[in-house]
Amino acid sequence: MDEFMEFMRSFHKLTGIDLTLYKRPQMERRLTSLRNRNRYANFPDYLQAMGRDRNLLYELLDKMTINVSEFFRNPDRWELLVPILKELTEKGPLHAWSAACSTGEEPYSLSMIMMERVKRPYQILATDIDENVLETAKRGVYRDYQTKAVPRDLLAQYFTKQDALWSVKESVKQHVTFRIQNLLADAYPQNLDLVICRNVMIYFTEEAKQRVISCFAGALRPGGILFVGSTEQFLRTELHGLSAVGPFLYQKQAD
Ligand SMILES: C[S@@+](CC[C@H](N)C(=O)[O-])C[C@H]1O[C@@H](n2cnc3c(N)ncnc32)[C@H](O)[C@@H]1O
Repeated sequence: MDEFMEFMRSFHKLTGIDLTLYKRPQMERRLTSLRNRNRYANFPDYLQAMGRDRNLLYELLDKMTINVSEFFRNPDRWELLVPILKELTEKGPLHAWSAACSTGEEPYSLSMIMMERVKRPYQILATDIDENVLETAKRGVYRDYQTKAVPRDLLAQYFTKQDALWSVKESVKQHVTFRIQNLLADAYPQNLDLVICRNVMIYFTEEAKQRVISCFAGALRPGGILFVGSTEQFLRTELHGLSAVGPFLYQKQAD
């Protein structure tokens, strides 16, 4: 077995995170450069150091994938979601999940849309594998450049500004619950109306991606919607009991 494979096996034992389910070339490149920056000559030494120093472990978790997020990422797609949200809430409150939510822009965007455009009861579960990004998400404080995609009227209504920092108002935050969850290992919530999972499956191997999509299908109630990222569309929808209802949007079929 090669050294990187051995590292991934031991890392799995140490953290419960199976790196072999991520695309290898990207992962190996990223982690090798991080290891070199920390001045470890090989992966066994690096792993041993990680056992002693949790900060090295947190740093690695941080670098495993890119954490970058944006409010209303691809605004035209959020626009397509508005009539769907109205339909989904015809009979009751919306139960939504923002999976791999990073620093919170995605669930807060949904929360603002629900308040401003849909005006029906809702709750949002927002999860990520990385504890650090979830702390930032819970704080809900963003720099000027991070709010550039928020329409000016929403910025005025749903944020408060202090110096160069914008804080998401409690009225938006109170609908969102943040929690740690590993999409490749942990249980999925059930009976959801909407799952948003964007820009993370791209890092997974094809096999892991299919497994995750199948778990999302299991997490949705019949008629529920899965909203995915730009390069994460999938073709054999029938395998998962889903059908495409728009670009990047899939609907769970009735049994
Ligand atoms: C590029 S961000 C996506 C943020 C947001 N969904 C968006 O599209 O703007 C990718 C996120 O996936 C998270 N992530 C990576 N592997 C994960 C896993 N196995 N389970 C849950 N989250 C994971 C990372 O911590 C990171 O915050």
